[in-house]
Amino acid sequence: MITKAILTGGGRATRLYPITSTINKHLLPLANKPMIFHAIEKVVDAGIKEIFINVNPGEEDLQKHIGDGGHWGVKIKFFEQTGGPQGIAHVVNEAKKFIGDDPFVFYLSDNILFGDVKEMIEEFNKGEHDCMLALSEVPDPNRFGVPVFDNVGNLIDVIEKPEVAPNNFAVTGIYLYGPKIFFEAFDNIEKSARGEYEISSIHSYFLKNNKKVGYKEITGWWKDTGKTEDLLLANRLLLEKTNNIIQVSPSCVYDDTVELIAPVIIGENCILKNCKIGPYVTIGQGSIIKNANIEDSILLSNVEIDCQITISDSLIGKGVKFLKKEERNKKHKLIVGDKTVIEF
Ligand code: G1P
Repeated sequence: MITKAILTGGGRATRLYPITSTINKHLLPLANKPMIFHAIEKVVDAGIKEIFINVNPGEEDLQKHIGDGGHWGVKIKFFEQTGGPQGIAHVVNEAKKFIGDDPFVFYLSDNILFGDVKEMIEEFNKGEHDCMLALSEVPDPNRFGVPVFDNVGNLIDVIEKPEVAPNNFAVTGIYLYGPKIFFEAFDNIEKSARGEYEISSIHSYFLKNNKKVGYKEITGWWKDTGKTEDLLLANRLLLEKTNNIIQVSPSCVYDDTVELIAPVIIGENCILKNCKIGPYVTIGQGSIIKNANIEDSILLSNVEIDCQITISDSLIGKGVKFLKKEERNKKHKLIVGDKTVIEF
């Protein structure tokens, strides 16, 4: 039975710059909760008791936010990748000492999904497979690991980011492995052309060495939040799931000059005045919003907006300020780094 999970918490997240130059991507809020919390909750719901999270050398923030797992009733430990990032298969190999001879789930914490992984783990626990992959139909499979099927529909290979994909499925970042086999495979794969130990090379090795690799199609939406637009979409989808929530922390100060359009979540100690917020907006703690309209956006903590502006489809970093200079009333699309000050 699977009771251990490895989660990713490291990496450079350059595709999310500038926001990720000052915050670990896995702490970016989705539905006002750090991204990695969603992954932790999925595996805890599926019965996982011990979680091992890889972190970048010198990382402290992730540990501070997550703690020892007590919050979720599980044990959480952190580990570093020797020699820094070398691909996600390398992350798993670095956790060998924690996994021992047990089966485990490997879950990429930037994968956000509607459904749960309980059923998949239950099926794996029947003991009929060495490995199980979660697939999802996507419009752009060449961004992902892609499964290859033969004429009669048997899975025969997995290829990483092919130029021309043989079908529209992505192998998502949720993988189940039986005892020992991952580490055997790791010893037999090489780094790819981009210098990484690819997880797809592990699966390809399994399929060419008679291991039983099963798969399950994920029901409901699945998002790899590698790019800003995916983050915004994941935020939107998670908020959609809340049945039109309007959640304002009791410590916020606001009055009837504020219009809130569901779904919207406002964090602690925010001050709101003369503004329209929502739908699909999450605002981090300590933010001040005055005179503005905000829709479909993620604001991190301590953002200050005090000018007539309509913001849409935007991701706004910690401590960013939008201050009034002259009157304007126009939509803006912004991707702005932490601590930026913009005067209009
Ligand atoms: C990684 C894996 C890829 C998988 C994807 C899922 O890609 O290498 O096989 O489909 O995660 O999120 P990356 O996000 O590192 O480009």
